[in-house]
Amino acid sequence: MNWKEEPDETLVCFCSQVDKGTVVAAIKDGAVDVKAIQEQTNAGVGGRCKELNPRGRCCHPDIKELLEIYGEKK
Ligand code: FES
Repeated sequence: MNWKEEPDETLVCFCSQVDKGTVVAAIKDGAVDVKAIQEQTNAGVGGRCKELNPRGRCCHPDIKELLEIYGEKK
């Protein structure tokens, strides 16, 4: 998944229907880790990932990747 190239509408979390734009906005708003993203957007709290996510797994790796791309570099 190349998150840099994906449009804002691409879904990150299928359980909670949260798209890339929402996650990136939370990161720009100061979310620094997966937990903060979960609290702010509800992404990553679904638990029905195998069933709902066509990637066949939870969205946590995608959230981490977005944090790496759009978060502040330490
Ligand atoms: S896809 Fe995000 S919690 Fe399931």
